Amino acid sequence: MAKRECLLDSDGMTLPQLPCSYDNIDTYTTDLCHFLATPLVRQITGGIHANDALIYNAWEALPREWTEWLSAWPHHRLAQQDLIDSIGEEHESGTIYCEVQSQLARRRPESLTDWLATMKMLALPRTQRPSPTITLPEVLADRMQPKKLAEVSTAAAYIRDICQKKGITRIVDMGSGQGYLSITLAYLFPSLRCLSIDGSESQVAGSQAFATSLGIPDNRLRQVVQWIDGSSALASMIEDWAQGESCMLVGLHACGNLSEHMLRYFAAVPCIEALAVVGCCYNHIIPRSPANPAGFPISTALRKHNVTLSATALMTGCQAPNNWARVDSGCSLEQTSVFSKRRLYRAILEKLLHDRGFRPYAKDETKPVLGIRKQDTASFTSFARRAMRCLNIADDELSATELKSYEQRYADHEGQIAILWTFSVLCCKVVESLVALDRYWFLKEQEGEAIDIIPIFDVSISPRNLMIVSEKACSEK
Ligand SMILES: C[S@@+](CC[C@H](N)C(=O)[O-])C[C@H]1O[C@@H](n2cnc3c(N)ncnc32)[C@H](O)[C@@H]1O
Repeated sequence: MAKRECLLDSDGMTLPQLPCSYDNIDTYTTDLCHFLATPLVRQITGGIHANDALIYNAWEALPREWTEWLSAWPHHRLAQQDLIDSIGEEHESGTIYCEVQSQLARRRPESLTDWLATMKMLALPRTQRPSPTITLPEVLADRMQPKKLAEVSTAAAYIRDICQKKGITRIVDMGSGQGYLSITLAYLFPSLRCLSIDGSESQVAGSQAFATSLGIPDNRLRQVVQWIDGSSALASMIEDWAQGESCMLVGLHACGNLSEHMLRYFAAVPCIEALAVVGCCYNHIIPRSPANPAGFPISTALRKHNVTLSATALMTGCQAPNNWARVDSGCSLEQTSVFSKRRLYRAILEKLLHDRGFRPYAKDETKPVLGIRKQDTASFTSFARRAMRCLNIADDELSATELKSYEQRYADHEGQIAILWTFSVLCCKVVESLVALDRYWFLKEQEGEAIDIIPIFDVSISPRNLMIVSEKACSEK
């Protein structure tokens, strides 16, 4: 196999590592956009949401040979596992089947196998790229969960190396949260000056308390509460703070469109010489619309493809089914049914509300979180009663008999709803690849250099592991 990291684009710039079947980023972009626009993908990523599956007969809308094969499994969780394994990274182990299940797995319809293979082929590589890490001292490490510790140890080493290479002395950490990254940088590298910015007062208060406990002086770490919205006032504030020195803009799990704002600050603020941002919470991305012309996609390249992602598709980008507890590694089929029961009950509720003409949702049909607790899933009646309270529907509007009859009518649909949900979640990697590609193209259009999409963390610990990086061309100072 060719060494992908060494591929060049038409401008002679090194390309990010593409899926192994691609050596041309234009072809890859076209194929990925095309796949996400196919009717089947659009259907399962929001055309028919799993919550509305019973209203619109989503199961019947899937290819017949797929549903027949999926229904043949002794338990839907085994079928789900087969689907999930088929999009796993190469190093991830497959399901351990008994003989009957192995036979079923082998009889998977070719059209489904091809569809899953296409999805896998179109996903950006996620296997962690070897990179240096820093062993953090106990005073830092003890404050972090293992996941955060692993992320900060790797990100801090990457940032240190870029700063050394480019003579950068200042770090701007956007969406800094509890400040783990900027505090680590300020504590370990006294020559660096850090500015951490977060919109949450409580997060910044926690971060300030942590920095104070470590005795980090104010001149090495400034912490600001500010909502980042792309304003030019923030750009000026960064310029003033930098006092003419070069900065690197960093963000660890910068939610939704915060990552997009960061890319724009990188492009617009002259003192920012390098960027490293890991995104997350794609459901907080705001799609482009007449009311929000700066929304997703942000690159001209993807806008030309008329790319759109529904709210459900963006939500699937936050999922990591390959990290779910496996049925063959101690997670019993009964345990998993708690999740599928919740989904079944939600779908029955939507069907009932639809049939009875209730329209309890906002104008844009956004479905609220219903505040369901574990005890509410004991039966559909308790689930529905709790949901009705949340939706301001009085108990006497839907009788106990009616609730019971809907529960009985759809009791055997649990597996179908669970599998429909799994289908949408399977799209997580292609959705996330598209978001990353949009960011790559935006940076390219802004004449960023050394643009890369680095799988920087261990994906089995940190599913959101793609770091988008870029530098600016060396300026003649
Ligand atoms: C997922 S947390 C990550 C925190 C931190 N970077 C870390 O890795 O531990 C995202 C943080 O970004 C902040 N945030 C999200 N959007 C923001 C925005 N537009 N402006 C300012 N802060 C934002 C949230 O308050 C939250 O603290």
